[in-house]
Amino acid sequence: TGLTTLDYGFVNTASARSAITYIDGDEGILRYRGYPIEELAEQKTFLDVAHLLIYGELPSEDELATFDQRVRRHTLLHEDLRRFFDALPRDAHPMSALSSAVSALSTYYEHDHDPRDPEKVDKQTIRLLAKMPVIAAYAHKKSIGQSFLYPDNGLSFVENYLKLNFGIQAEEYIQNPVMVRALERLLILHADHEQNASTSTVRMVGSTDANLFASVSAGIHALSGPLHGGANEAVLTMLRGIRDSGESVERFVERVKRKEQGVKLMGFGHRVYKNYDPRAKLVKSSAEEVLAQLGVRDPLLDIAQELEQVALADDYFKERKLYPNVDFYTGVIYKAMGFPERMFTVLFAIGRLPGWIAHWREMMLDPQTKIGRPQQLYVGPTERHI
Ligand code: CMC
Repeated sequence: TGLTTLDYGFVNTASARSAITYIDGDEGILRYRGYPIEELAEQKTFLDVAHLLIYGELPSEDELATFDQRVRRHTLLHEDLRRFFDALPRDAHPMSALSSAVSALSTYYEHDHDPRDPEKVDKQTIRLLAKMPVIAAYAHKKSIGQSFLYPDNGLSFVENYLKLNFGIQAEEYIQNPVMVRALERLLILHADHEQNASTSTVRMVGSTDANLFASVSAGIHALSGPLHGGANEAVLTMLRGIRDSGESVERFVERVKRKEQGVKLMGFGHRVYKNYDPRAKLVKSSAEEVLAQLGVRDPLLDIAQELEQVALADDYFKERKLYPNVDFYTGVIYKAMGFPERMFTVLFAIGRLPGWIAHWREMMLDPQTKIGRPQQLYVGPTERHI
């Protein structure tokens, strides 16, 4: 039928032109709108980076103040949406709760769904940025059976999230610049990664002209899988498993190499990075800094470091160019900060939000965008009759 190439997992197929993020996987380079990730993570706030990704430029002081004010003004959730969480089971995974509530957001703002009206698109953008951390914190509060707090718009984006999530205990973090900065830096490192599975999902859903909330909600589900964002939770499960079983790191790595029941070294490997993941490097130094600052000694960090050493010295991993990715050390930091494991991927989602929004908007403005509609190779029966 004149069919094109078969490309499982889109390893070799570009589906868009994009001016947002540049990656050189062989050199370990990651840049947002041209700026190296290392500089942004060191010198900028998450809202600066969100502005950069979404609008193309770092904000001036005035622009940042306006942007920040707009976001603060939209943090409150409709009371009915707050009660929406009552309908979810207490043991709902926070990622499912997050995606469901973001999906439900679209029912409140239907009048503003118009991808061709820049003002409306921007209003939806600000709403989503402002409400996502609130929804994320409620997903957490729900899972531990605590009452929900209202946002405090006197606080910065990250401080507000900490407050909503940890309540009174957040004071300690907010007073501690190292903690706020560490979370800020982690969110920046997750903010975009060009056409990864969740962003491609956002684009695919958006290519049908579906609204921003619907598209991002689908992206959150795509992120939840352990091969993608869910890997940060899976890494902790793996480290705990090694610790609790008393198995040596060497034996575990042997089982990975034998592909025993599909066991993988979670937090290792990447489709694009074949040398090192520049985010992982920054996360590792952050993990050491945060644990030192909190005075925490976590044996799981020791296991992670040992696993990394053993794997990097092993031919299996060398031949396949498998290195630690961004998810390898983040869980150790989140754990030290007091986040439960089931919240790790939610933190990834808050970080990735500006990237999803930037891609959705870029796609909507690109005159060459077409509905996403991959081909297939049909391998079923030829015509037959009953
Ligand atoms: N442990 C053991 N073996 C691995 C791993 C791993 N983590 N990753 C890849 N391999 C092997 C794989 O089995 C294959 O071996 P062989 O050639 O013998 O069949 C070879 O390396 C090539 O792997 P692949 O599955 O073809 O690579 P991919 O580009 O399709 O997959 C990946 C990339 C990230 C899904 C994969 O490396 C993986 O499953 N890693 C573990 C999960 C993980 O940490 N995901 C987070 C990714 S980074 C952040 C994000 O996107 O969220």
